[in-house]
Amino acid sequence: MAFEFIKQKLAVQKSQSRYRQRFCVQKSNNNSLEQEAIIIVDGKTYINFSSNDYLGLNNHPKINQAMQEGVDKFGVCASSSSLVTGYHYAHQALEETICQWLNKPKCLLFSSGFTANVALFQTLGQTLNQGNCHFFLDKLSHASILDGAFSSKAKVKRFAHNNTQQLSQLLSQCDSDNKLIASEGVFSMDGDQAKLSELESIADKNNAWLYVDDAHSIGVIGKQGQGSTSILNSVSDKENSNIIMATFGKAIATSGAFLACDNSLHDYLINFARHYIYSTAISPALAWATIKSIELIQQEQWRRDKIIELSNLLTSLLDDAIQIVPSDSSIHAIIIGDEEKALFVSEQLKKQGIWLTAIRPPTVAIGTSRLRVTICANHKHNDIKHLAYCLNKALI
Ligand SMILES: Cc1ncc(COP(=O)(O)O)c(C=O)c1O
Repeated sequence: MAFEFIKQKLAVQKSQSRYRQRFCVQKSNNNSLEQEAIIIVDGKTYINFSSNDYLGLNNHPKINQAMQEGVDKFGVCASSSSLVTGYHYAHQALEETICQWLNKPKCLLFSSGFTANVALFQTLGQTLNQGNCHFFLDKLSHASILDGAFSSKAKVKRFAHNNTQQLSQLLSQCDSDNKLIASEGVFSMDGDQAKLSELESIADKNNAWLYVDDAHSIGVIGKQGQGSTSILNSVSDKENSNIIMATFGKAIATSGAFLACDNSLHDYLINFARHYIYSTAISPALAWATIKSIELIQQEQWRRDKIIELSNLLTSLLDDAIQIVPSDSSIHAIIIGDEEKALFVSEQLKKQGIWLTAIRPPTVAIGTSRLRVTICANHKHNDIKHLAYCLNKALI
């Protein structure tokens, strides 16, 4: 039979407790100013601790209204790629909003964060002189960074997670003119932060560029939610002092992604990034809604404060014996170990009205299956208390 391996691979996946399936969410939060962090699956309501809607902005009436306004002004669809006739005023206005917000010269929109990462690494890695481009990636970098880098023509080295000493060593052995260091700002599965100031000075010292995937810190970190790079000293007119990528699909609560950089990289990507050139531009209505979301993120500091307050509450209520990765972000990883146990605990929590997906290999390393708790600005104190009570009961 053709493609016999499909059945075999699925059988292995099941036998290892790694089989993945989807659940249809019938409804998530309420369409009112008081959004709740809930989902309804199979008619049952759960408190959702697996959402990336960190600021609780999904379904916000003002964003919904902006979306409707965007539909009325521009239509749902861009109807073309950006280089043909798909680049609308809404896209331009969103790019300008992001440039001002992050103090970057230029910005480019992509249909997803995954696409933006693959586009950047493949396009930079297409040097005429094959092998003359070197990428240095934190070991815990997102799948899309790895896929983009390894499918490019560049040489790729990975350094141990947050191990800046090893990174310096690897860079010192590389005499290429084209070096790029890549890291997530806040790591998706652990919630800890990159040592960005150190990475920036290592990049400076070695004449390398620094690429930060800020998917999990945009909106959540920084005085106006500018993300983890807001702590960096870099001057915006310095050539590619750092390149920032972030998705709209998490704290920003719309969909799509941006890549902020200097003028020449921006032009290079417009001319050579196949994912940008040969793909329909993101919905202009969505771009319009995203501007409104960023406006709310800048204005509403209480959402970031609430995440910190609720995160502190959770750690204070959890039993000391529970192994939780230290984090200043929304993400709090409770390491369970093997897949089966992680699934079992997740099922136990479901019975108590808590939705907390078990994260298993290959998303995380073997033996580190975990419950990845996300604390969002629309959780209530009682939600956190209930979660802590149930986790203590299930794990101790
Ligand atoms: C670190 C990181 N980068 C990139 C992405 C991809 O972004 P998107 O969901 O917009 O494709 C994700 C998550 O989905 C992520 O966690």
